[in-house]
Amino acid sequence: MNSFKHENINFDFLRTHAFNYRWAAVDADVIPLTAADPDFPVAPAIRNAIHTCADTGYFSYGAAHGEPVFKEAIAYWYHKNYHATAKAENILPVNSAAHGLFIVASSILQHGEKAIIPDPVDFLFRKAVEAAGATAIALPLLKDSANFDLDAVEKELQNGAKAIFICNPNNPLGKQIAPTHLNELISLASKYNAWLVSDEIWSDLYYETTCTSILNQTLTAYDKKIVVSGLSKNFGLAGLRIGYIICDNKTHYDIVFEKSAHATTAFGIATLSQIAGTAALTQAEDWLIEFRAHLMQMRQIVFNRIQSISFLALPAAPEATYLAFPKITIPQCTSDKLIQAILTNARVALVPGGKQWFEAHSEGSIRICFSTSENIIQEAFDRIQKVEANILDSIKNA
Ligand SMILES: Cc1ncc(COP(=O)(O)O)c(C=O)c1O
Repeated sequence: MNSFKHENINFDFLRTHAFNYRWAAVDADVIPLTAADPDFPVAPAIRNAIHTCADTGYFSYGAAHGEPVFKEAIAYWYHKNYHATAKAENILPVNSAAHGLFIVASSILQHGEKAIIPDPVDFLFRKAVEAAGATAIALPLLKDSANFDLDAVEKELQNGAKAIFICNPNNPLGKQIAPTHLNELISLASKYNAWLVSDEIWSDLYYETTCTSILNQTLTAYDKKIVVSGLSKNFGLAGLRIGYIICDNKTHYDIVFEKSAHATTAFGIATLSQIAGTAALTQAEDWLIEFRAHLMQMRQIVFNRIQSISFLALPAAPEATYLAFPKITIPQCTSDKLIQAILTNARVALVPGGKQWFEAHSEGSIRICFSTSENIIQEAFDRIQKVEANILDSIKNA
């Protein structure tokens, strides 16, 4: 069975319902390789679970702490794939990883406090910290890696930073953080009694090497670790808004639960989403394995095609994620300028680096999402290559 054939993509549906800079949000002649959201339908097991639930005709209020069976499924997933002893009672299902980051930031940071975030990283990190009334200290990552400069981290902790946020694997870099570096961060967090928050939403989408969770039992123990993750990327369920927060112990879980305001029913994750999420984690792993195999091929194609574009440079293929983040080699050309020139001339939409999306040090790169078919990827690169000269002219004249 090949679930990832071009023929399986329902473009009519996507053009009406896939927003966030994707098919429903661009002109009809544009190929969007923008938001990180797959073009393929989700696993049959997930669709069946949703059908079965709909057929019962019941959509009652859900549990404030999340459906027990979903919490157990997440705990088992982390146990099996990440060698973690995550307890179901310390896991809070939430309405998206994005909201999970907001809940965690407001649970661990007070107004006026500081938190360290990576640069580059997804804009949600800064938004979450700032929504908590705290200040985000963006520390540039070391060249060609998702690792921090540890001296810079220690300096900020000495200056009072209360938390270190990491993104492993990193969006947009597509790089993983090695276990040794994770242990170094745990040591620093523990030395200064700071929180270590790891966004692991991309961790199931690795290539050569599996990712290491901060909850992996072989890493140094420390109780102020928190994981935020979700099912938007691995299982393509972004529209169902499925995320979760894993705390190391019950005391910290209680703090997070209180901040989530789930008990009020004003916030929380839909029961249908948790039913879909449970099916994904318990019945759709084969689909995920096939998805990863497809992505591995797309990664190679994207990597090869970038090598023959004169104005882009990508020294290595991503280690994880379905994102490529090449550098722009045209002197003085900003990410925004290049994105505009590609859109105008080639009718391909991409995401620019720069402070708005991925912090300041991401300027000078562009992000290409490749969770689509080979046909779409080849067509997008054919279009860009065909009008390379026009793109360069547009930039010169801009
Ligand atoms: C690192 C990271 N965290 C969180 C999110 C948001 O995930 P969700 O769809 O669950 O809100 C994204 C989406 O791109 C992401 O890249």
